[in-house]
Amino acid sequence: MSKVDVLLGLQWGDEGKGKIVDVLAPKYDVVARFQGGPNAGHTLEFDGIKHVLHQIPSGIFREKTRNIIGNGVVLDPIVFKKEIEGLQKFNLNVKANLYISKKATLIVPTHRLLDQAYEKAKGENKIGSTLKGIGPSYQDKIGRQGLRVGDILADNFKDKFKKLTDIHFEILNKHQIEFNWNELEAQFNDAVNFLRQFQLVDSEYVINKEITSGSTILAEGAQGSLLDIDFGSYPFVTSSNTVTAGACTGLGVAPRHIGEVYGIFKAYSTRVGSGPFPTELLDEQGEKLRKEGNEFGSTTGRPRRCGWIDIPSLKYSIMINGVTQLLMMKADVLSIFPTIRVCTQYQLKDGSVTEALPYEMIHEKIVPVYKEMKGWNVSLKGIDEKSLPAELVQYVSFLEQQLGVPITLISTGPDRTQTILRNQR
Ligand code: GDP
Ligand code: IMO
Ligand code: MG
Repeated sequence: MSKVDVLLGLQWGDEGKGKIVDVLAPKYDVVARFQGGPNAGHTLEFDGIKHVLHQIPSGIFREKTRNIIGNGVVLDPIVFKKEIEGLQKFNLNVKANLYISKKATLIVPTHRLLDQAYEKAKGENKIGSTLKGIGPSYQDKIGRQGLRVGDILADNFKDKFKKLTDIHFEILNKHQIEFNWNELEAQFNDAVNFLRQFQLVDSEYVINKEITSGSTILAEGAQGSLLDIDFGSYPFVTSSNTVTAGACTGLGVAPRHIGEVYGIFKAYSTRVGSGPFPTELLDEQGEKLRKEGNEFGSTTGRPRRCGWIDIPSLKYSIMINGVTQLLMMKADVLSIFPTIRVCTQYQLKDGSVTEALPYEMIHEKIVPVYKEMKGWNVSLKGIDEKSLPAELVQYVSFLEQQLGVPITLISTGPDRTQTILRNQR
């Protein structure tokens, strides 16, 4: 029997999950995605190549790793086909190394249009969705009218598809959304035919067999804990459970089979889309962070909002996820600052301070309480654990002391090789 390790983002997504899954993949026989869909953009860099994955697990570049798209994922066949075509130049054995759950929910073209319609209707209160059809497809899943990957193998798939899209057309008409259905339908049918060639399986059996036979397994989270449908800053969240528990329901893995929980975070904070962000820097410093960290969305290209690290929200994510190891990303980006700020508490409207995430943070402005620290202010190029600047070691020690979990990895650049492992167990 083996355990399933989980790697997930502790902030608002884009923490660097793709890079680290790729770094860790040689240690794992299996990498599995358990939630989310094409809203994710996971970037991998190695041998001078930069590649962004959306729905395919980040273990795909490692020859011996088997990859699973679990039942908790919402899969867009059109995006999937494009992703597979984009991988062709790497000569990977994708068909042999990728398993897709028959129980994963299908994103149909009208889901993307509905996303647009709902966001437009929200006006100023829009979520800032990636418009990939995530919310509407999960709505259909929960509403028990969704289509699943396994349905594409049935003779009556066309009827089912028509029945669902007819429901969507009615809503789209009300919202006066225009589209060329013939084109979208043809594109979808073509992509569904393409998807049929892959290994469509009951992935809960596949993964549990791997557990029984002692394989090493890593579950790859998408988005981040602060975007979780239950625990994030609702309604400015995504539509799935992005936390550790989501790996159980999104793969069919029992809680007792969960092993290490790697919590990944940036040495600062970013958020893309709307919603509360207590430590956001709306000044020149935020601009500097965005530029130095190249903080533009991997899926939509939108500029990411940037700010200092936020201890109360990290503590919250660590609590909900049961994090056992912390991985700190993008330490190199903070090299530009002579002084760095760490938010240790929040000050509320009534003047009181707290370390907890208040329910009211959606509506009320929170003032972060900062501790100022001396920055390392030197390049981290080519650095190893022994040559880490003292101020960076102090920063890491302070975070460990505040968060109560060891930081076992420091990332100093986007490439696979720019990774420092510490105190490995
Ligand atoms: P994910 O969604 O969590 O996989 O993260 P993204 O790929 O959306 O965004 C992370 C971005 O940071 C990507 O462009 C990565 O190449 C880059 N990146 C990852 N780790 C580091 C790092 O340590 N330093 C720097 N400068 N960039 C990094
Ligand atoms: P990865 O896996 C960052 C954000 C969107 C929006 C909200 C809802 O690359 O970390 P949705 O499209 O799900 O309806 O959008 O969630 N969002 C992400 N932000 N990284 C992601 O994924 C995200 N996926 C969704 O910007 O605010
Ligand atoms: Mg991303």
